[in-house]
Amino acid sequence: MTRTPFIPVNEPLLGQSEKKFLIECIDTGWISSEGPFVEKFEKKIAKISKRDYGIAVSSGTAALDVAIEALGISKGDEVILPSFTIISCIHQIVRVGAKPILVDSDPKTWNMDINQIEDKITSSTKAIMVVHIYGLPVDLDPVLDLAKKYSLKVLEDAAEMHGQTYKGKPCGSFGDISTLSFYPNKHVTTGEGGMILTNDEELAENCRSLRNLCFQPNKRFVHERLGWNYRMTNIQAALGMAQLERLDEFVKRKTRMGAMYTKLLNGLSRIQLPMARTEYANNVYWVYGLVLNESIGFDAEEAMKRLAQNGIGCRPFFYPMHQQPVLRKMGLFKGESYPQAERLYQRGLYIPSGMALSDEQIYRVTEAIVKVLK
Ligand SMILES: Cc1ncc(COP(=O)(O)O)c(C=O)c1O
Repeated sequence: MTRTPFIPVNEPLLGQSEKKFLIECIDTGWISSEGPFVEKFEKKIAKISKRDYGIAVSSGTAALDVAIEALGISKGDEVILPSFTIISCIHQIVRVGAKPILVDSDPKTWNMDINQIEDKITSSTKAIMVVHIYGLPVDLDPVLDLAKKYSLKVLEDAAEMHGQTYKGKPCGSFGDISTLSFYPNKHVTTGEGGMILTNDEELAENCRSLRNLCFQPNKRFVHERLGWNYRMTNIQAALGMAQLERLDEFVKRKTRMGAMYTKLLNGLSRIQLPMARTEYANNVYWVYGLVLNESIGFDAEEAMKRLAQNGIGCRPFFYPMHQQPVLRKMGLFKGESYPQAERLYQRGLYIPSGMALSDEQIYRVTEAIVKVLK
């Protein structure tokens, strides 16, 4: 019996330019962060994102750590962010002894519910972390207005938003500082990698120092502050430069993938599909998510098991921050509940959405979904 191959949840698309640039790293011997691709990559991403400065780092998580530190968030400060996000967003807030203040999700876009933000602002609030989730940006204008009204910093986590815009302006260009990730499930990958973006020269210099152990130019091994070795290598940046050549094509591929899935799954009334657009952006489908209605008698975990038995790789939605054991053990979020975030985790999953996904695979995925979830 021949078995049809398993369809993984993500597969990146790598081509000849990637090969050529990687060979260039080997041929020239430039493999560390000192190599020429790093600065080229920083400049190119900054330009695409309409930012003055790009600071390449080793991951999206590293970018968030550095950004929080560079914004001067410290003990006793409060930072507002969504409960429905990845743990990377909260690491450094908690590590510096600041307090994460959560808001719930919008049930339609799955992004943070911006209407809950203002009530959470106190005299200790220092920043709002905006996290664009799964392909649609947060409605940024009202958040930026609030930040202005209360003199708050805005950190835009645009990890999942390569090539996305908000009202025609690139994601990654909003607020005081933005961050990106280049993990292989992103539209543009460097294997592992991240970028910090800002227009503030001082902030940029601070980020550069923090990612590089806060070495001092004149007294190299004398340190006034603690930083990290979060540098991006020339090899990673070489991959990134090659990937950027195809950014427009990648956004088109993902948009087409999303449209195909929606067309094929639209008849399934018991599943919520991602919104194709809002009034401020079209979905770029970083991943294609599904949320099971209550009328389906099992949860996302069971659905993923059944889909895996049919050869389809899936992933759960984010586990809400207020339920994270590691954060609960620290005494955070006692008695707090965010029903939409909880529902999204229990009922949500995403299906194969990688750049290399073929039409034939999309048909196979949707057939399996119809079989399992009809
Ligand atoms: C919204 C968001 N922020 C941050 C990250 C962390 O990025 P990385 O995996 O590169 O550390 C991710 C990763 O997928 C993410 O989705």
